[in-house]
Amino acid sequence: MTKKTMEIKNQRDVIAARQAIREMANNLGLGLADQTRLATAISELTRNVIQYAGEGTCIISDESDQTTLRIRAVIEDHGPGIPDVDQALADGFSTGNGLGAGLPGARRLVQDFNLESKPGHTKVTIEMIRRKW
Ligand SMILES: Nc1ncnc2c1ncn2[C@@H]1O[C@H](COP(=O)(O)OP(=O)(O)OP(=O)(O)O)[C@@H](O)[C@H]1O
Ligand SMILES: [Mg+2]
Repeated sequence: MTKKTMEIKNQRDVIAARQAIREMANNLGLGLADQTRLATAISELTRNVIQYAGEGTCIISDESDQTTLRIRAVIEDHGPGIPDVDQALADGFSTGNGLGAGLPGARRLVQDFNLESKPGHTKVTIEMIRRKW
């Protein structure tokens, strides 16, 4: 299993995380559209880490088995947390003068999306899942 852990502290780290997941997706044979979906989702989630928590981590891993291609990313921080997760996932909700498009957009780009948050800890897990042939 390939696994890569990245510290997320600044815009350069966001770009590096984008690049890393794109590369993993490409190596596993995913097409450009799926590579871009993953890069966009990672970009939004790591941007949120910087904007709302200051810093955090992003772990990407290949969780594929014989029949299923599965790329997972776990984006975690120890910032203030999200008081109302359902509200944060709604289109257009923002406490940061943004479009409020990051979380709901990322959710739509992948097959599995999980957001857990409490004061001092936010963890988003996404997976792209494709059948192998
Ligand atoms: N890691 C996080 N820690 C704390 N709060 C967060 C975190 N990520 C998101 N949020 C909260 O969820 C809201 C919605 O996030 P989302 O990314 O969808 O929109 P946005 O960042 O406000 O704007 P956009 O991403 O469109 O520029 C944020 O405004 C913020 O209140
Ligand atoms: Mg955002």
